Amino acid sequence: MTHVLLITSSLNGTDGHSSRLAARYIDELRGTEPDLTVTHRDLAADPPPHLDGATFRAFATPAAERDADQRERTAWSDRAIAELQAADLVVIAAPMYNFGVPSVLKSWMDHVARAGITFRYTENGPEGLLTGRRAVVVSTRGGRYAGTPADSHTPFVETFLGFLGLGPVEFVHAEGLAMGEDRARSSLEQAGDELARLAA
Ligand SMILES: Cc1cc2nc3c(=O)[nH]c(=O)nc-3n(C[C@H](O)[C@H](O)[C@H](O)COP(=O)(O)O)c2cc1C
Repeated sequence: MTHVLLITSSLNGTDGHSSRLAARYIDELRGTEPDLTVTHRDLAADPPPHLDGATFRAFATPAAERDADQRERTAWSDRAIAELQAADLVVIAAPMYNFGVPSVLKSWMDHVARAGITFRYTENGPEGLLTGRRAVVVSTRGGRYAGTPADSHTPFVETFLGFLGLGPVEFVHAEGLAMGEDRARSSLEQAGDELARLAA
């Protein structure tokens, strides 16, 4: 039985294009696997606390040595990592905001990248510790960037997920959403079809 972790981050909540496409993908998956279970983490509704120095020091302190404040500071991160560890498939709805991911999604990344837990450094370089989990990233953008050097979004997310050991990672883009209704409609349809194919 597949357990999915769905991460959404749109300012528009469930009405966001990225959220809708991700929800559609999960509906398609349910069609082939009715027993599928899903944990939904809506980062816009429940934003991770911004990573600060005291929290980062709490991460670096061995669990048994953390004081009450440090335990509280690691709680959000611990929960987010447990959600990742429990998942077989991670679905990330990642709109492009100001040429990057939404700040809440970047903040989530800051909380789930924990040395010794989700990655470690070896003599050969970094090693991700979340192997055995696939990821699907639904990226929505007002403009068009896929496959061009101006795409500051896809390589970043791909590198980050790979750093944690997730893979394979599939990207589905819905682009040109601010470039007229016709283009937006066909781009959303195309992305929906691609997600349906991935789910089949
Ligand atoms: C705050 C904000 C910043 C945005 N920045 C960009 C951008 O840098 N490049 C772009 O192509 N589109 C940008 N857009 C357009 C969004 O990518 C587009 O509306 C997309 O559908 C958002 O996904 P969502 O509907 O899931 O929130 C921005 C939208 C917002 C609200």
